[in-house]
Amino acid sequence: MVSHMNSSNRGVPASEFAQGGPQRWLVLGGGYCGMRLVDQLLEMGHGVVVTHRAGTDWRIIHQPAATVLPKTSPLGVKPQLQVAVFDSGQGIDPDLSALGPFTAVLSTIPPGEAGVDPVLDRLGAALRQEAPPWVGYLSTSGIYGDQQGDWADESLLPCSPNPRSRRRIRCEAAWRASGLAPLIFRLPGIYGPGRSHFSRLSQGKARLIHKPGQVFSRVHVDDVVGAVLWCQRHGYHDTVVNVSDTLPCPSSELLGWAAHLLDCKLPPYERYQYAKATMGPMAQSFWLENRRVSNRRLLSWGYRLRYPTYREGLVAALAEEKRGHNFNPVHQRADGLLAG
Ligand SMILES: NC(=O)c1ccc[n+]([C@@H]2O[C@H](COP(=O)([O-])OP(=O)(O)OC[C@H]3O[C@@H](n4cnc5c(N)ncnc54)[C@H](OP(=O)(O)O)[C@@H]3O)[C@@H](O)[C@H]2O)c1
Repeated sequence: MVSHMNSSNRGVPASEFAQGGPQRWLVLGGGYCGMRLVDQLLEMGHGVVVTHRAGTDWRIIHQPAATVLPKTSPLGVKPQLQVAVFDSGQGIDPDLSALGPFTAVLSTIPPGEAGVDPVLDRLGAALRQEAPPWVGYLSTSGIYGDQQGDWADESLLPCSPNPRSRRRIRCEAAWRASGLAPLIFRLPGIYGPGRSHFSRLSQGKARLIHKPGQVFSRVHVDDVVGAVLWCQRHGYHDTVVNVSDTLPCPSSELLGWAAHLLDCKLPPYERYQYAKATMGPMAQSFWLENRRVSNRRLLSWGYRLRYPTYREGLVAALAEEKRGHNFNPVHQRADGLLAG
């Protein structure tokens, strides 16, 4: 499967955001969300610099785009994409003063091992120097920890004891103290084309695990992109906002809908209490936390979810997968639905 930046079905209609003239974005981390945003920005006619690590074959991700990019955008300027290497592990930093100035910067890069944020650690000073008008950071709703099924909104203090979430809490704190006044987006499990239950169901690897009372929240990748664009356009900054859909529910419910859409059999029912011993540490940690991630703040800011529930979100994801394009093969995973 190849990835390319075809202009069809880019999630959020470009016209919805095409205000105020062309922009130049720095997207730190062209992974699943990063590339979806890059595609949308290019379609809107904006310039983009996107980063990947040194070992990533970014040509697989970007090369097909060169042949399909329209010569002119709806805004009448040439869409521009520049790829830069940023790899904190290898000590390779992009020269931001040569690549900028930027209208907006979004970091999608997860915390480093010790809870040090790779972007602030390596590029914080350069970013402060550049002083972009808007900065965003993709974080996770995992920082809310276990809420025993209750709603988690932005007023809750991050409290998860999970080491992965502790690292994230450190990074969020560093971003807040960075002087860049970022908007921090807290995301639950991200799904979309190339990241859903479909491939596991098709390969016979899906598991139908049920734990009474357990729910997960999730968000379609196009709503991550849509929320980022909406909030940047409306100038929200220096605070946090959850980006999630409106229907937290058991993962078995989602699997049932995915199997229905694929017209395939469900795997056998497994009780969590017996299944947990066979789960990897990451999956086990997701099942230990039970919360509903509130999107009330985001909706009060005027954002309209493109996929308010997994039902229409999975329909759209499957349709896109069947068209055989439009998602990034390097960053597809099936675990997104439980993360965050
Ligand atoms: N997946 C989920 O369901 C979920 C849920 C909640 C929150 N989140 C968080 O939301 C953010 C975006 O998620 P995603 O699924 O789009 O992530 P992703 O697909 O894993 O992409 C992460 C990006 O970060 C880059 N990166 C990783 N480590 C780096 C380092 N040390 N130096 C420089 N670049 C580095 C990767 O570079 P390459 O392009 O070279 O690989 C990639 O472009 C992440 O912080 C993630 O932890 C994810």
